[in-house]
Amino acid sequence: MITHNFRGRDFLTLMEFSREEVETILEVALDLKKKFALGEPHRLLQDKSLFMLFYNQSLRTRNSFEAGMTQLGGHAHFLDPKKIYTPALEGDEEAYSTERVSDVARVLSRMGHGISIRIYGEPVNWIYGKAHRVLREFARWSEKPVINMECDKYHPCQALADILTIKEKYGNELRNRKFVMSWAYSPSIEKPLSVPQSAIIGASFTNLNIVLAHPKGFELDPEVLEFTKQNSQKNGGTFEICNDMRVAFQDADIVYPKSWTSFKFLPPNVGEPQLDQTKVLYEANRDWICDENILTVCNNNVIYMHCLPCDRGFEVTNDVIDGRHSVVFDQAENRLHVQKAVMALTM
Ligand code: CP
Repeated sequence: MITHNFRGRDFLTLMEFSREEVETILEVALDLKKKFALGEPHRLLQDKSLFMLFYNQSLRTRNSFEAGMTQLGGHAHFLDPKKIYTPALEGDEEAYSTERVSDVARVLSRMGHGISIRIYGEPVNWIYGKAHRVLREFARWSEKPVINMECDKYHPCQALADILTIKEKYGNELRNRKFVMSWAYSPSIEKPLSVPQSAIIGASFTNLNIVLAHPKGFELDPEVLEFTKQNSQKNGGTFEICNDMRVAFQDADIVYPKSWTSFKFLPPNVGEPQLDQTKVLYEANRDWICDENILTVCNNNVIYMHCLPCDRGFEVTNDVIDGRHSVVFDQAENRLHVQKAVMALTM
């Protein structure tokens, strides 16, 4: 177990961690999960403060970080960017309503022990990669760890919870198990790429056989695809892409169908977000839904995953998400345990 390398480190993407380090985080998470269940105190961050900056909505992330800090003996401050001077990159500033990220990061890091940030979509005008740049800028100036609570590229905390859930269901030996990360239809065309990208990155730290399924036009970031391919190979797994949901689900052990937007219609790939064309692409693929029928081609004990919130009746039917295959509430709970591990190790 590698433990020496965490203190003070930013947690922005799993791509910057080794397999041994990811396994350490999961082991610590399991230990903290056991302590939580037994009611054993584990005040590892007594009197420490985490500043949580949410540019977007959240149920799970906000409450798991906030409850997690309380359980670790510290406190989490909820910061609404509109109620402070909105942290902005150099060049995006407006007099007396924004404050340069470099200044905000230095102020907060003098007062507490960590900064966590959620930012994607509208707050960065849907410019793909800009939200991640905001996180990097915070990390550059903060003297304390910066934790990614979901940006436009990555959702590493969700990915950790996903791997933990898979290991709890199938054990540590995942060889020959098939994991399908699939696109699914939603009436909302504004979901970032962060969850599917981090899910395949996370799975590539195991020896799972990963299949990424999506209609043409919903490709993921080539940098993520290349990392997943290389890392998966290094760890004894495989990685392939399929454009047919039913073919991808054949003999699957784990399916993770969720919606994400089309990267090719977002800046900087185009000048302005092309929402009309994105909508047309979505509507052409309304049949990408996870129902009982498609689960019949999977292995009998297939597990159904979703990061939540989900669009019931569109991404998934009620009988699947509320049925025997669903592990979505284990996933949601595991957000608490993995994030406590990340905070306890880095802060
Ligand atoms: N899965 C997830 O990040 O949920 P929230 O948007 O509720 O935080």
